[in-house]
Amino acid sequence: MSRPRVVLVGPMGAGKTTVGALLADGWGVALRDTDADVEAHQGRSVQEIFVDDGEPAFRALEREAVAAALAEHDGVLALGGGAVMDPATRDRLAGHTVVFLRVGLADAASRVGLASSRPLLLGNVRGQLKKILDERAAVYAGVASAVVDTDGRGPAEVAEAVRAAL
Ligand code: S3P
Repeated sequence: MSRPRVVLVGPMGAGKTTVGALLADGWGVALRDTDADVEAHQGRSVQEIFVDDGEPAFRALEREAVAAALAEHDGVLALGGGAVMDPATRDRLAGHTVVFLRVGLADAASRVGLASSRPLLLGNVRGQLKKILDERAAVYAGVASAVVDTDGRGPAEVAEAVRAAL
């Protein structure tokens, strides 16, 4: 059984996928991303799944995608921002090397962009993001073995900080 070298968690706009790609490149390993896994498995975008089937259905698919990736993948794993809200997923993360990429509202909003197509942000990017950051901050910190601040930092600098934190 493989295990990811590092699991990246944090909200939308934290840079999980971008930083994960840099880390994976540097180590010569693959990046796996649970949003992409769900989309590939379903043949639909995350947005389509939310609209067609609702958020609970997406969360069930996400839970299975995370479980599979944690058991199979030995590179870098980026989790969808809401994955850690699931108690079974939090239990599965115990014992893994989990890095929380922390981001404040201003940087998160500017990274996702005002025209974000993420279903949870539709119509009110800043307002929804603020709510999500407030609700989840303690949960991300609770599953993390290390926390890396990303505000004001570009992806290469964040990737270096992650390597230094391991
Ligand atoms: C979500 C984050 C998204 C995606 C979905 C829900 C969330 O992933 O899974 O839109 O609940 O925070 P990213 O964090 O990769 O954008």
